[in-house]
Amino acid sequence: MTDARVTVHTEAGIDRIEPEVHGHFAEHLGRCIYDGIWTDDSVDEEGFREDVVELLADLELPVLRWPGGCFADDYHWEDGVGPREDRPRRRNLFWGQGREMIPEESNAFGTDEFLELCERIGTEPYLAANVGSGDPQEAANWVEYCNYDGDTELADRRRDNGREEPYDVKYWGLGNENWGCGGQMSPEQYAREYRRFATYVGTQSAHMLDYDLDLIACGFENHEWNHRFMEEVSDPKWGVEFPLDHLTLHHYYGRTMTVSESDEDDYDQFLVEALEMDHHIERLASAINAFSTTRDIGVIIDEWGSWHPEAQGGSGLEQPGTVLDALSAAAVLDIFNDHADVMTMSNIAQTVNVLQCLIETQGDDAFARPTYRVYDLYAPHKGNEAVTTSIETPTREVDDEELPLVGASASVDDDGEVYVTATNLDTRASHTVEFTVEDATGDDIDAQVLFEGQEPDLEVDADNADAFAADDLDVSVDGDGTVTAELAPATVAGISVE
Ligand code: AHR
Repeated sequence: MTDARVTVHTEAGIDRIEPEVHGHFAEHLGRCIYDGIWTDDSVDEEGFREDVVELLADLELPVLRWPGGCFADDYHWEDGVGPREDRPRRRNLFWGQGREMIPEESNAFGTDEFLELCERIGTEPYLAANVGSGDPQEAANWVEYCNYDGDTELADRRRDNGREEPYDVKYWGLGNENWGCGGQMSPEQYAREYRRFATYVGTQSAHMLDYDLDLIACGFENHEWNHRFMEEVSDPKWGVEFPLDHLTLHHYYGRTMTVSESDEDDYDQFLVEALEMDHHIERLASAINAFSTTRDIGVIIDEWGSWHPEAQGGSGLEQPGTVLDALSAAAVLDIFNDHADVMTMSNIAQTVNVLQCLIETQGDDAFARPTYRVYDLYAPHKGNEAVTTSIETPTREVDDEELPLVGASASVDDDGEVYVTATNLDTRASHTVEFTVEDATGDDIDAQVLFEGQEPDLEVDADNADAFAADDLDVSVDGDGTVTAELAPATVAGISVE
């Protein structure tokens, strides 16, 4: 019996789903870079992990954030350029400890290696500049090294290091979590620092480049902090207009829940926490709107995902990749679609081996985690027009909250083809869902499903990774184009409808 209904209002457009909303984040933390993307942290060894590069290229990620995270505000980019054997080995305050608690960074993987990776996998780089312990000159110099085509020492240094053409890096973050690891600043203090950095990075670049950079400020899950930041940064007393293109925050969930030791009530709680993303986007957008009347400032969530107790500092923030985590990612991507009018980017944490990574390496093996499959299934949304959905769904009480058991979002491509994604967030029972796509004939339907028959706590490894690939989903189609499907517990569906 049908117990949930999704109606897709194809004429009620929200906005374009920026492809960057499917972005990623790679930090010098644990085995994300060394042993994940780059073979080894030794400066004598050279090379990308080709197996990982291939998986990344297949995923067609639109944007990749680097080098942190907290790492970024203790990182000095000049340490990571030039001949590898001359690069200084540094202690790192935050995350260098991933392998055997070594708080050291070899700098074997630096700016040119990262930007080469981005070119090889066809992704836009997003560099996070050091505000906490760096200065505006260092940040502006990094832009010049990467992007300037003139005759300066920094542009020549890039050429000497093997790169003739500028990289044209567009996205520049000015600081990371400056309310915490990035300098313990008050919102007013960060607002002033932000303006100082934006002046040097933005104004200098305006004279050097024939295109604008996108400058990104880092906010907080505490929305009073964001409000105060926006108030101070936009205060007319400063007089001069300065670049601020996006404001970001980080949302992690599942901090107290080890998936393998949890039951269905815990799963519900976890999913409720993941769905709080909706609230954070709304609150961040409202802080922006309260003070920005004259320009567009986009919402970015540049770190997000599950963070379970197994992911401790000493473990290099590694945790198992499960169906449950992947399910939460699908629910969050649906939320992003519904906020296409404000969302300009997101970056799940992190790309390889760390937290809710998409790719895991075990010795010589590299394989896709269940969350990778979700990104694959959701890929058709990228660049489409998000459209409004109405959802009638059973819910479950979880403490003081309601967990909607069925979720969905939809988008339309340039040819009018509609793509609907849906989640059954109920880890206990199946739900039969009726999808009505306004104006569709239902003549051409393609439906796929992830995780059917798999337990929420099922963990991926090198041997079972292929079992998480999408299967065909059985659907029935009525004469009026209504599609009905039974979604098994903890599954994700992708349905294209003409
Ligand atoms: O992604 C791990 C860490 O989480 C990042 O370094 C930091 O920005 C956040 O607190």
